[in-house]
Amino acid sequence: MCGIVGYIGDKRCRQNVFQGLTRLEYRGYDSAGFVCIDSNHNHFAFHKEAGGVDPLARVINETKFDGTIGMGHTRWATHGVVDQANSHPHFNCKKSIAIVHNGIIEGYEHLREKLINEGHEFYSTTDTEVIAHLFGTILPQHDTIKNALIELVSQLHGAFSFVLILEDHPDQLILVRHRSPLVIGVGNNEMFVASDFLAFSDKTDNIVFMPDDSFAILRKDGIELYSFDGKPLEITTEIIEAKFIDIDKQQFEHYMLKEIYDQKRSITRTVSFYRVMGSCTDRAFSQISASFNNHKSTEYSDSIWRQLSLSKAQINSLTQINLVAAGSSWHAARIAQFFFETICKIPTRIHLSSEFRYMPFFADKNSIFIMVSQSGETADTLEALRLINSFEISTIALTNVPTSSMVREASGFLPMQAGPEISVASTKAFSTQVATLYWFANRLALERGDITPEQMHEAEEDLFIAAEVLEAAIEIHKLRITQELAKKYAQYDRFIFLGRHISYPFAMEAALKLKEISYIFAQCYPAGELKHGPIALIDDKTPIVIFSVLDDLIYRKIISNAHEVKARNGHLIVFAFEGQDDLIKLADCAFVIPKITPLLAPLAMTGLMQFFVYHITRELDRPIDKPRHLAKSVTVE
Ligand code: F6R
Repeated sequence: MCGIVGYIGDKRCRQNVFQGLTRLEYRGYDSAGFVCIDSNHNHFAFHKEAGGVDPLARVINETKFDGTIGMGHTRWATHGVVDQANSHPHFNCKKSIAIVHNGIIEGYEHLREKLINEGHEFYSTTDTEVIAHLFGTILPQHDTIKNALIELVSQLHGAFSFVLILEDHPDQLILVRHRSPLVIGVGNNEMFVASDFLAFSDKTDNIVFMPDDSFAILRKDGIELYSFDGKPLEITTEIIEAKFIDIDKQQFEHYMLKEIYDQKRSITRTVSFYRVMGSCTDRAFSQISASFNNHKSTEYSDSIWRQLSLSKAQINSLTQINLVAAGSSWHAARIAQFFFETICKIPTRIHLSSEFRYMPFFADKNSIFIMVSQSGETADTLEALRLINSFEISTIALTNVPTSSMVREASGFLPMQAGPEISVASTKAFSTQVATLYWFANRLALERGDITPEQMHEAEEDLFIAAEVLEAAIEIHKLRITQELAKKYAQYDRFIFLGRHISYPFAMEAALKLKEISYIFAQCYPAGELKHGPIALIDDKTPIVIFSVLDDLIYRKIISNAHEVKARNGHLIVFAFEGQDDLIKLADCAFVIPKITPLLAPLAMTGLMQFFVYHITRELDRPIDKPRHLAKSVTVE
C-alpha cells in the first residue's frame, strides 16, 4: 500500500507534497517522511517519523528546508517494524539517491545479502532500501539514467511503484511502475506525481496514468516514458475533473459515526440513481432524483446493460454468477449470493480475492464476474480481475470510486453513490454494496423474465424501507447503548457471533467490525456449527451474539441454537425482529427492530450492529477512524 507524492517545478515542493500526503493517508499511516533537494545548499534534506502525517508535519514545521524537487511517503508497513528507521525515504550508502516506494520487492533478501557482501551498509530492514543501494551500484555502470533503469527493473520482482531523486540530477524525477498505480499530473512548468491523482487534483486536471511496466523521467516541462525494455511509449493525457472533497465530520465525534448515519442517504441515493439510470455526477443526480420522485411508470431503461457491456443474448444465456471480493466487501458478496440464487435462480459462487488467483480457474463464457470493492484498488481483487480479463469473460466492477483501477480495467461498472468513506472500517460502503447487489439481482431477473416490472418496483420500495429501518433501529436503541450497554460490553475480552443462512455472512461482518476497531477478539460461526465443537467455548466471560432471520424455518433453527447457549449458562445477545418473542425471551440483552422483506434482514440490522460496536470501542478509547495496523486501501497482496 503506502502513498507516494512527488513534485518538480518552478515552485517550492514542500506544501504540495504535504497536502498530497494528507490526502493519501488512507493508504497507510504507520509512518511518514519527506525529502527534497534543499535550495539553500543543493543537497538532500529530509525528515521521517513513525506515526501519520501529523507528527511529521509538527516536526518539519520547526524547520525551513524546501526545494523545487521533493517527495513524500505515507507508509503501511510490510517489511520491517514501524519505526523511524524503516520510514521512507531511504537512501543508498553515499546518500546520493533517495527513494519512496509502494509495494513489495519479492526475494529482496537475496539482493540485500549480496549487497551487504559487497560492502553496502543498510539502515533499515525494509525491502525498499535494497532498490536505492542496487541503483547506486548500477547507475555508474551506464552512460544514461534510462539504461541504468532498464537494468534496475530487470532485477526487481513483485509489485511496486517508486520514485527516485538523484542528488546529481536535481532537474529530474524518476518514476517506475509495476502493478502498483502511479499517476502524473501535468501542470504549467511543474509536474506532480502520486499513487492516486486525488493527491493533486486541485492543481491540474491533466493526468497521465503510467502504463503498467513502464518508467518515466520527469522534468518540470516534459515527460519521457519508456517500457521496461526501454522502448519509448506514447504519452496519453486524460482530462479528469474529479476534485478531492475535504469531507467535514460535521457534528460527529468520528467519521465512522457520521458514515453510519450516512447510510440511509447512500442507499436511497444509489437506488434512485439506478432507478433512472444516468450519469453519476452530483448535478445529474439531482435531476435523476427529481425525476425519480415523479416516476410512476414501471419501464426500465436498457442503459444499465450498455454500462455493463452485456448483451441481451449474454444475459439470457447466463449460467453462473461469480462475485470476487475481500474483507467487508466479501461479506456483502456472501449476502448477495442469496439474492442472485433466490431472485434470479442462477447458481452463484463467491470467491475470496486473495485465494482466487491460486485456485484452478474454469473459464466459462456463460458466466460473469462481479468484482466488489469499495476502493476499486484492492490488490487481491485487482489481480483476480486481471486474471479473469485474460480469459475474455465479462467483468463488472462494483465500486465507490469511479476513477479506480478496477473501473478502468473491468468491462462494466456498477457505481455506488455512497460518497467518500473516510473511516477505515467500512460501514456505508458495505450497506450500499448490499443494496446495489439486491437491486442488480432484481434487474437481472426482470431482464430474464423471472420477475415483472411491478415486482422490480416493489424491490426498489423494499430497499427504501430497509434504509429507513436501518436508521430507525439505531434510534430505537440509541439511549440504551450509549447509557448502559456500551460500558457493560466493553469489559469483555472476547465475543462469539452466530448467524444462519443469510445472517451468517452478516455475523461475519459484525465480528470483523468489532475486531478491527475495538481489538476485542471475536469469532464467528454458522449457528448450526456450534454443537460441532465451538460450544465448548461457552462460559460467562464470552457473550454470544445471535443475528436472527425472517425466514420462518431458519428462525426456528436459530431458536434451537439459542437454547443450546442458554442451557450452558451462556450470555446471549440477540438481534431479532418484532414478533420473534420465542427468541427474544431467551436473551440476556435483546435488540428488536421492525420487520422487513426477509432477504433484506441483514441490511436492516446493519446500522444498529455498527452503532453498538462503535460505542463499545468508544468506551475503550481506541482511535476509531484509524485503527492500528490497518489502511483504507489495501494495495499489496
Ligand atoms: C473492513 C474493511 C476491509 C475492506 C477490504 C476490501 O471494515 O474495510 O475488510 O472491506 O480491505 O477493501 P475494498 O472493499 O476496498 O476492496
